Amino acid sequence: MKVLIGLSLLSFVAPSLAFPAAQNYARNDAAHQHPLHIQLKPKNTATRELVSLDGLWDFALAQEGNDTATPWTSRLPKGLEIPVPASYNDIFIDRKIHDHVGWVYYQREVIVPRGWSDERYLIRIEAATHEGRIYVNDELVAEHVGGYTPFEADITSLVSAGEKFRLTIAVNNELTHETIPPGNIEITEFTGKRVQRYQHDFYNYAGLARSVWLYSVPREQYIRDVVAVTGVDGAAGLINYTVTTSEGTTGDIRITVLDEDGTTVAEASGAHGIARINSVKLWQPGAAYLYQFVVDIVDSDTVIDTYSVAVGIRTVKVSGRQFLINDKPFYFTGFGKHEDSAIRGKGHDQAYLVHDFQLLDWIGANSFRTSHYPYAEEVMEFADRHGIVVIDETPAVGLAYSIGGGVSGGDPPPTFSPEGINNNTRRAHAQAIRELIARDKNHASVVMWSIANEPASNEEGAREYFAPLAQVARDADPAHRPVVFVNLGLATYKVDRITDLFDLICLNRYFGWYSETGDLEEAEAALEEELKGWEKKFEKPIIFTEYGADTMAGLHSVFALPWSEEYQTEFLDMYHRVFDRHDSVIGEQVWNFADFQTNMGINRVDGNKKGVFTRDRKPKASAHNLRARWRKLIGVE
Ligand SMILES: *[C@@H]1O[C@H](CO)[C@@H](O)[C@H](O)[C@H]1NC(C)=O
Ligand SMILES: *[C@@H]1O[C@H](CO)[C@@H](O)[C@H](O)[C@H]1NC(C)=O
Ligand SMILES: *[C@@H]1O[C@H](CO)[C@@H](O)[C@H](O)[C@H]1NC(C)=O
Repeated sequence: MKVLIGLSLLSFVAPSLAFPAAQNYARNDAAHQHPLHIQLKPKNTATRELVSLDGLWDFALAQEGNDTATPWTSRLPKGLEIPVPASYNDIFIDRKIHDHVGWVYYQREVIVPRGWSDERYLIRIEAATHEGRIYVNDELVAEHVGGYTPFEADITSLVSAGEKFRLTIAVNNELTHETIPPGNIEITEFTGKRVQRYQHDFYNYAGLARSVWLYSVPREQYIRDVVAVTGVDGAAGLINYTVTTSEGTTGDIRITVLDEDGTTVAEASGAHGIARINSVKLWQPGAAYLYQFVVDIVDSDTVIDTYSVAVGIRTVKVSGRQFLINDKPFYFTGFGKHEDSAIRGKGHDQAYLVHDFQLLDWIGANSFRTSHYPYAEEVMEFADRHGIVVIDETPAVGLAYSIGGGVSGGDPPPTFSPEGINNNTRRAHAQAIRELIARDKNHASVVMWSIANEPASNEEGAREYFAPLAQVARDADPAHRPVVFVNLGLATYKVDRITDLFDLICLNRYFGWYSETGDLEEAEAALEEELKGWEKKFEKPIIFTEYGADTMAGLHSVFALPWSEEYQTEFLDMYHRVFDRHDSVIGEQVWNFADFQTNMGINRVDGNKKGVFTRDRKPKASAHNLRARWRKLIGVE
């Protein structure tokens, strides 16, 4: 596939910040700032209260390209109401909103509960895609770049308990060659419209797709973060923990570990230490077991703050060509997914959450990858509770100018260059890695970090770009999980430059679809050749993180021609034949769980149809084949 990406580098003018701000995480400082003073996900505890700000908000588009327009200093124009959480693109019957490039504003009134006069309180945005700003009345109080990780504003000194204020969240969906994921804004030739281009194959949904919270913690002494690294020592389980508290903390740290019946099974004290569970019940794939790791700040016998983290005790290790969970070889079955559904776009939805996991269970999937960005924290917690194994991925997708949406017309520009993916992109990427790991470090379900999907690892500059990032991931994870990137088909074993920097090999391959289209015999030989090449070069386990064929549900063919349900089934069967011949293959994740929305183009009809389920989660024929295979593989017949 040779595709031209029109890089229009002059078209993005960085927004100027016209506001003094207490906590201002500006674009260029992003790499050095942490967006969360309190990392822990807001929740109700005996010492903390939580007010959901989900619901209908007022909504308006900013004037095109005018970052400094000031609708937030007053009420937004009356008219549009928008649900939170949801991407805004498909909500309104308005092409201008659907295609908008730039800032939008969400606004509502909020009352700080009267009872919080002795508390500290914060606004927490789970995700603003891809850049967000929080305004309290007229004041900018926080800014964050990166569309899939949380940020906050401490508003204690700005609004009194019992007082009402106007909360405005500005959200920008622009992608440039220095954002993660990257993109570029093109000015159209005849009408001068600003159009967002990007290399990744899913729609650039934007807005507030996850929850917004107002929550309280104790005013002076509060818990900011908990790190719980688990280990096993014979029959005992170990939790090596670190608790970070506010500067004003003078109380003692007390740790209590409860089992699922609520029985205390371990105790410890102090900000660092090891809690030992004498007879541990392990967290296992398909058989989750979670302890509550309860942290209290205690001052003269009074609990000042309390928070508990669900901790699954398990070990993860790469050994030769095996991937071990609790020292047993693990074989991944499952999918690359998307956060995607009709109307809501990437909006988090509890019904889809539960239903999707039901389908994973039904089909015998023991794992998925959070392709191609961190998913809502609720998804990670659900995976912890239901024993599903997760490959946790950053939003670094589309770092290859050699692929993308569009029509061919010349050689693509080099990916790694000052005008393309450059040192600023790398800084944004490092920040995305740190924020992902800071958020998800305690999840038992997470067994490895994927720091990028399909970068141009075959191109000049890839090694200089990725070597420091692999190190960022290793330094960021106190649990030292394996670190991977997901390899692009054209970066074959012959030309890839970075695989030795990582712990496993993750391959996305489309023999029989993007190449050898419709010819599964030829595709099988090509796949076999490629797999043998990787095996020869590296003594590492291999996971197929993508393989799949676009399939129109309901289209049938006695010849099993491409796009038919028969073709998808035979295509997957062919891959499985090859996998079964190679012990180095320790996992198969079909692309994709469900059909999903993309940019429309001449090769995309209402999105990508590689789903094993339709966008509304109906099984295609291949689902039944996969079910028979996977339930046998994972031993639930
Ligand atoms: C930008 O916003 C300012 C302040 O509201 C306004 O005066 C100006 O006309 C706007 N410019 C454009 C190009 O829309
Ligand atoms: C516990 O974690 C700390 C901080 O990461 C580390 O220095 C220490 O070696 C760990 N202890 C054990 C017994 O693993
Ligand atoms: C990154 O910075 C270094 C040192 O200034 C420079 O040599 C290199 O070309 C830059 N890389 C890119 C991709 O711009």
